[in-house]
Amino acid sequence: MTQPFLIGDGMTGGYGGADILHNCTIAVEKGEIAVIVGPNGAGKSTAMKAVFGMLKLREGSVRLQGEDITTLSPQARVSKGMGFVPQTSNIFPSMTVEENLEMGAFIRRDEIRTTMEQVYELFPILRDKRRQAAGELSGGQRQQVAVGRALMTKPSVLMLDEPTAGVSPIVMDELFDRIIEIARSGISILMVEQNARQALNIADKGYVLVQGENRYTDTGQALLADPEVRKSFLGG
Ligand SMILES: Nc1ncnc2c1ncn2[C@@H]1O[C@H](COP(=O)(O)OP(=O)(O)O)[C@@H](O)[C@H]1O
Ligand SMILES: [Mg+2]
Repeated sequence: MTQPFLIGDGMTGGYGGADILHNCTIAVEKGEIAVIVGPNGAGKSTAMKAVFGMLKLREGSVRLQGEDITTLSPQARVSKGMGFVPQTSNIFPSMTVEENLEMGAFIRRDEIRTTMEQVYELFPILRDKRRQAAGELSGGQRQQVAVGRALMTKPSVLMLDEPTAGVSPIVMDELFDRIIEIARSGISILMVEQNARQALNIADKGYVLVQGENRYTDTGQALLADPEVRKSFLGG
């Protein structure tokens, strides 16, 4: 059987107290977009943290390109090609945009200028604002800094926890277009989104999580067309 590019397989665990995740499975294929949706408190961020190694699993495993990485630290996972943009505190507000990008490249010992140019090509506004403190930027621009920072390690899979939180619909559309562009370059995207409809629309695979469990798993289009999913999770 072929393995998914990245999989959190049968993940069970929590923050030390009761389990938050219950046999939860999340996967993404190479160059594809997988989206996790579900109500507040469903465990979406917890599932992302588990896949990135910020949570000790009681059961289950995480595998990247077939290799078991369940016990690796987050930093070791970055070295293996994983990038993560957390839901909160995902930039250094008092540092400039360019310093944020440089910080993103912390594990690299090679020349980072080419990657920085690629980030500036993807997000041209960041080039214009590269000498400005990141905290002074608009919400959408700060999210671009956060995504750009994660791209600086040249990841093969990029994990994004609510990248469009608090931005306008137009800015959301733009950000989704850039995310599609990143996926087309061969980077897998694993993303949590509150804007479920729009996110599933660009998703190859969608996961509906409820109370730490997989409720529905299908292609983005199939989930969008499912009357039960629409009624309970997409507002009809
Ligand atoms: N650091 C933490 N310590 C203890 N419990 C937490 C922590 N973070 C989240 N939780 C709990 O885990 C559950 C799932 O939270 P979370 O993964 O943030 O949900 P979602 O991202 O789907 O909104 C919630 O009940 C939340 O209170
Ligand atoms: Mg969350």
